[in-house]
Amino acid sequence: MASLTVRQLDEKLKKLLRLRAARHGRSMEDEVRTILRAAADEAGREALETFQPPSKTPARAAAPVTRRVLVVIGGGIAAYKSLDLIRRLKERGIAVRCVLTKAAEQFVTPLSAGAIVGERAFTDLFDRDSEFDVGHIRLAREADLIVVAPATADLMAKIAGGHADDLATAVLLATGAKVLLAPAMNPHMWANKATQRNAAQLAADGFAFVGPNEGEMAEAGERGLGRMAEPLEIAAAADKWLASAGAQPLKGRRVLVTSGPTHEPIDPVRYIANRSSGKQGHAIAAAAARAGADVTLVSGPVNIPDPPGATVVHVESARDMLRAVERAMPVDVAIFAAAVADWRVDAAGGQKIKKKPGQAAPALALVENPDILATVAHRKSQRPKLVIGFAAETENVVAHAKDKLARKGCDWILANDVSPETGIMGGDRNTIQLVRASGVEPWPPQSKDDVAATLVARIAEELEEKKA
Ligand code: C5P
Repeated sequence: MASLTVRQLDEKLKKLLRLRAARHGRSMEDEVRTILRAAADEAGREALETFQPPSKTPARAAAPVTRRVLVVIGGGIAAYKSLDLIRRLKERGIAVRCVLTKAAEQFVTPLSAGAIVGERAFTDLFDRDSEFDVGHIRLAREADLIVVAPATADLMAKIAGGHADDLATAVLLATGAKVLLAPAMNPHMWANKATQRNAAQLAADGFAFVGPNEGEMAEAGERGLGRMAEPLEIAAAADKWLASAGAQPLKGRRVLVTSGPTHEPIDPVRYIANRSSGKQGHAIAAAAARAGADVTLVSGPVNIPDPPGATVVHVESARDMLRAVERAMPVDVAIFAAAVADWRVDAAGGQKIKKKPGQAAPALALVENPDILATVAHRKSQRPKLVIGFAAETENVVAHAKDKLARKGCDWILANDVSPETGIMGGDRNTIQLVRASGVEPWPPQSKDDVAATLVARIAEELEEKKA
């Protein structure tokens, strides 16, 4: 008899089935068999012959794009973080399966991994049950991305050498999917020529890497390059690779992003500006476009290239920016990352203001600029489903962000500390706290690209939930 497959079931049904199967300690396929047998016993075997599914075809909702990640947990002390990684991936609406190596089982149990995944974790190449129901070829084939975390020195050596003597390595050898490695090991092991040779070979073979990072090791007093990347960082990297593998969670969505500073003219040659580089807003526009969204980026004057895949409208002043934003409506999501000048010069000179000997310096009378974020968030018609602002502060970051959330009427605020010593303004990294009415969620320090990927994943999830 052909083995059963539950892949074609819709997500909600699959989730219910997964929970039920986990409760009974069975595979999902076994659970379906049990349900079928019980139904046949109760209703009589002939019921299976006479049963007709409802003939009315339900209205076809856009099928949610299910992204499938297989997490391979290697045997290192960082394995405990992989359980959090699984949680982070699932938060993003990703379907996760998990394989543990024998060494990994010294650090986490298949039971705990299985409980978080929501179905059994796989461990054994010669497990009859798993070979019958899933098997290493299906595990390899039914993943859009494989994440190896932690990728230990030994596991990397095996993969680089093409070994296939356990389930993890057999799956990795059999897969056609992209593989993302999150190395974790003692700094001396990472620096060792053999490991570096294997890493170079794996990179040349098309494997992607996230980390290792620099920091404290599990061994007391040891520091260096070898810490596994944080779960959120790995999840953001996974998102990026899933997007490039064709999984597009924002397909069909319209997204508007503002970015960069504004220039407020004093006269035709002088202006008031600020230090915003536009890097974060541009990274968000690029990530949203990679996720399949139709993106309009309204950018103030910046020195970085237009992001690929977005329609870019270049503007100078806050008032120009507001006009361009209004023209881009309606959108599903609006993200205001621009550092808009709060004030402009009331009567900007039509000619260059001349310095005249003996005359006092001209006084610049300022008037308030329109608040673009608040204007859009308070729209009565065509308000985007999700309005997201930034709060760049130098003190009391969260308190100010909460206040801004209420005052401006937006749904989420990404708060960050831009004190000069953080190097965030103009730099490549960012430390965000996501402030929502329901609470505050700190994100680890990460690159602006990773912040963008994390944000886009959160948005996709939120839109999916709102639809449900
Ligand atoms: O009030 P503050 O400038 O700190 O608010 C920051 C947030 O508001 C950012 O998301 C920024 O893009 C947006 N903003 C705006 N228009 C303004 C001022 C700020 O859209 N005039």
